[in-house]
Amino acid sequence: MSSATALAHPNIALIKYWGKRDEDGNLPAVGSLSVTLDALRTRTTVSFDSSLDRDELILNGAVAATEQPRLERCLNALRELARRRDYARVESENDFPTGAGLASSASGYAALTVAGAAALGLDLRDPQLESVARIGSGSAPRSLHGGFVLLENTPSGTRCRALLAPADWPLQVVVAVTSEAGKSTSSRDGMVDSQRTSPYYQPWVDSHPADLAQGQRLVAARDFAGLAALAEHNCLKMHAVMLTTRPPLMYWLPVTLACMQVISGLRRDGVPVFFTIDAGPQVKAVCLPEATATVAEALQQVPGVLRLLTGGLGTGARIIDSNG
Ligand code: PMV
Repeated sequence: MSSATALAHPNIALIKYWGKRDEDGNLPAVGSLSVTLDALRTRTTVSFDSSLDRDELILNGAVAATEQPRLERCLNALRELARRRDYARVESENDFPTGAGLASSASGYAALTVAGAAALGLDLRDPQLESVARIGSGSAPRSLHGGFVLLENTPSGTRCRALLAPADWPLQVVVAVTSEAGKSTSSRDGMVDSQRTSPYYQPWVDSHPADLAQGQRLVAARDFAGLAALAEHNCLKMHAVMLTTRPPLMYWLPVTLACMQVISGLRRDGVPVFFTIDAGPQVKAVCLPEATATVAEALQQVPGVLRLLTGGLGTGARIIDSNG
């Protein structure tokens, strides 16, 4: 038996992706720019064992049947790279709500890829691991890296790299958890529906390269005010596509909007903070370190906020134990 354990953090996109350019290869329609979060963690152990007759997944202590097809595709890709045939037992734990708009699939598939690759003795610097992670989730390659991460489309796939390390621009992120429930429509299904039915989908795709280029310039310049305005605009543009999908993808709760208004008010008063929201009701407030306490205090008081998860920018997925 050969096994390895990896830790990975979720990431949140400041310039988002929504939509696929190729569903089979899980290739995103547009690039994205994210930050990796150190406050939330996935810990995954992958053990390849010749006595198993199928791949097994235990997620947060229970069999996760719905993840089985994606899991098998990722493990098949790793087995192909390593020219090995053994099935694997995968045990994964998140210390935050799973499948609720907190990017658990990003950290989950980044941890799975790195742990599986280490258990099989693969080179962890091999860029092909990015494609393995992407099979699981379009945003998972971003969690292979730390700090500010750019995922770009290339003619045949994607390329993902860190733009700045966490220490280069140590922003803080306060996550307002507004529901612990899983989302009703997965990102993967929602994107396909948006692509088919939203009249705003094509304008979203067409206007996206300019946002991505500007996002890179603002990150390079450490321009917080510029990034705040752009990231909120890009987030709302994605939600406009979601809302105009048939049937509508309404991921917000009333408390989500209340948090957004509080954050907008703080920024109007000069507090360096902006919001971003993904396919779920949680609100992520990104701020300069000196604003963290003010932002946390304000969000804590919003009725309906269940708890806050606060932290800085994290590192990429890494091995913490291995006998591969
Ligand atoms: O990780 P996926 O492929 O299920 O989709 C992520 C989609 C968003 O979180 C809404 C946007 C993003 O770029 O992370």
